[in-house]
Parts: sequence; structure tokens; C-alpha cells
Amino acid sequence: MPIQVPEALATSLVDFFGARGRAWADRLPALASEVADRWELRIDGAPAHGVVGLVLPVRRADGTGAVLKLQPVDEETAGEPLALRAWDGRGAARLLDHDPATGAMLLERLDPARSLLALPDDLAATAVLADLLGELTQHQAPSGLRTLADIADAMLAEVPQARGAVTGEADRRLLADLAAAVREVRPEPGDRLLHGDLHFGNVLAPAAPGARAPWLAIDPKPLAGDPGFELLPALQNRWSDLAATGDLPRALRRRFDLMTDRLALDRDRAVRWTLGRVLQNVLWGVADGAVAIDESQRVIALALLGR
Ligand SMILES: Nc1ncnc2c1ncn2[C@@H]1O[C@H](COP(=O)(O)OP(=O)(O)O)[C@@H](O)[C@H]1O
Ligand SMILES: [Mg+2]
Repeated sequence: MPIQVPEALATSLVDFFGARGRAWADRLPALASEVADRWELRIDGAPAHGVVGLVLPVRRADGTGAVLKLQPVDEETAGEPLALRAWDGRGAARLLDHDPATGAMLLERLDPARSLLALPDDLAATAVLADLLGELTQHQAPSGLRTLADIADAMLAEVPQARGAVTGEADRRLLADLAAAVREVRPEPGDRLLHGDLHFGNVLAPAAPGARAPWLAIDPKPLAGDPGFELLPALQNRWSDLAATGDLPRALRRRFDLMTDRLALDRDRAVRWTLGRVLQNVLWGVADGAVAIDESQRVIALALLGR
């Protein structure tokens, strides 16, 4: 039986990639069955998906469980197999097979019902995530990944135009502050293998008991750079836990300090790279037509700037 592409995934593929996304969604059932045949996989469960990827639970010929991940290959996703191979199961799901022609990946199966979103205490979840980041960023980045140096240069080149697009004076000033922060750290962009999207939903418990580690990362959008650039996904995720404290800036700084302490990062540099990540989000928003800085990004930036 051909697989069904979840409606929400088809919609989000079109939002993301336009006509190319539609064509990809249409071809997904045929692609899934081609790859499953080639790798001798039997589909045995309902598909999961994120924004652009379809994840199918499968059984291999030897009976072991795995998942098949199919997603369009672009600048962000192209590095996923490179990073997973470099980690080789240390801190992340294992890459069992990869087809460069289609980007299809066969991955070690973890437990999608148990992510760091499910830990009741968000600070305990933050501590786990920080320790995992420490493990993942111990590696020098393999060649072939995009670099934070290039990303920073591209962002700085876009800032003048974005300043013209943003309407409020306070937002324009904040945009200038974000750019100034990036300029300060740009001379030392770092060379670590960064995960690029380590939020709580991208850390899962293993499917099998007695596994090698209690938590493993999935879904890298990797790059080479400074680990300070890794912290924003964990600040903006589980936002309602931060809001529930009644003091967002304080709760954000607590999470941030917990991560920088556990990772032994220089706090000032980490603040600047995190502001760089906020700048990236602001520029993406402006490219999508926004004329103001998103509220959560503004709150994060001001909390880190101590205002
Ligand atoms: N190795 C895995 N084992 C089990 N489930 C997985 C695995 N990888 C992904 N999933 C499930 O698929 C969802 C989407 O996969 P993910 O790799 O995070 O892609 P996206 O980039 O679309 O967020 C995850 O949130 C999880 O529920
Ligand atoms: Mg994900």
C-alpha cells in the first residue's frame, strides 16, 4: 500500500518551497516505496513529520526497527548525513544508510513519544540539552558544511536593507544593536560541529531499554562555528514554561546561564552569538514581509542585553 502524505506536511512543504514543495509531496509515496524496496524495509507504523521531513517507522530485513526520513535537500538539510556520520551515534541517532541522490536517510529508531518536551521541569530538560550540546560540539566540523563565518557575513550584508523595511524607531535601534554584536564576534567564528537546531523536541529517548545513552539528538541542520550560536533554539522552545514564572527576562537569563555554565562558555561571546541568531530570525521575518521584530525575539534580545 502506498504511504499517505500527511495533509499538514503537504501544506507546509508548499508554504516552504512553493511549486517545488508540491512536486516533492506528490512524489513522496513513490519515493518512499522505491527506497523501501532498495533497502529491504517494511513500513510498520504511522508516519511522523516536522516542517519539511516525512519520517516513517520501518523494519529492516533482520527485524530491527529503524526510521526512514525523506526531505527535500537544501542548504540547511544537506549537512544532516555528514553530521550524523561524524557523531557516529555519540550524542545523536545513528545514520544507518544514506542515498545521496534523493537525500533519503535510514536512522536508528528512537522513541518519538519521549522527547525533552515531556520532562516536567524545563530547567532539568535544559540541563540535559546543554550536556548533549557539550558532547556534540566536541568535534571539529567536517569539511563541506556551511560556516558561521559565511552566515554572519551574509546577515551583515542584509542589515541595511532590513533597517529600511522595519518601521519602528525602537526596532531599528535594536536591529543595529544585533548587527553590532555580530560584528564584535565575527573575527572568531569557531570551528566546532554545531547541531544547528537543538530544541527540546529534537532530543529523544532511545526506543530500546539499556541503550547507550538516556537521550540522543535528531534532526541536525549542522554548520561549523562557535557553540554560542547553538543556544537560541532552547531559549525560544517551551516558551509557556518561561511565561509561567511571571518574569520572562529572568527566566530566560536563568536558562541561558544554566547552558553557558554547563558548557563553560564565555558568557559575553555566547550573548553576542545568540543575538546573532536573533538577527537571523529577524532577517528571515523581514524577508517574509514583516515590518516589526517578533515579540519573542525582542524579549530574548532585551533580556540578554540586560535591558
Ligand atoms: N530517529 C527517530 N526515531 C523515531 N522518531 C523519529 C526519529 N527521527 C524523527 N522522528 C520523529 O519524526 C519527527 C520529525 O522528524 P525531524 O527529524 O525532527 O524532522 P523535522 O526537520 O521535520 O523537524 C520527530 O519530531 C519525531 O517525532
Ligand atoms: Mg524536528
